[in-house]
Amino acid sequence: PSTPYLRVTPSMLRKQTGRKGKDAWMALNGKVYNITPYAKFHPGGVPELLRGAARDGTKLFGEIHPWVNYENMLAACLVGLLVEEPEKEK
Ligand code: HEM
Repeated sequence: PSTPYLRVTPSMLRKQTGRKGKDAWMALNGKVYNITPYAKFHPGGVPELLRGAARDGTKLFGEIHPWVNYENMLAACLVGLLVEEPEKEK
C-alpha cells in the first residue's frame, strides 16, 4: 500500500509562511516539507532559508546548493505532495 501523503495545494502552501503561529513549509521537486524544525540548523541562517517558505523553492534551492541532499535531511519533515489547485478554487 502506498503512503497516504497529504495532498497540498498551492493555496494551502501559501499560508505556511512561518509567521502567525504557523510552521513554514517549502515545496521541493513536488514534495512539501515542514522546514520549521530544521530552520535553526540551516548553515545559511533562518532568513535565508525562509526565502523559500510558503512556495516552491526548487529553483532557488538549485541555484544555491544543488549538492545538498535535502531529501535525507528532511525525510522526517515530509508533509505531503504538491498538487494542482482544484479547478473550482482557481
Ligand atoms: C547553505 C540558502 C534551503 C541546507 C546555504 C547558504 C545559503 C543558503 C545562502 C550558504 C551559507 C554560507 O555558506 O554561508 C538557502 C535558501 C534556501 C535554502 C535561499 C531556500 C530555498 C535549504 C534547505 C536545506 C539547506 C531546504 C536542507 C534541508 C543547506 C546546507 C548548507 C546550506 C546543508 C551548507 C552547504 C555547504 O556548505 O555545502 N543555504 N538554503 N538549505 N544550506 Fe541552504
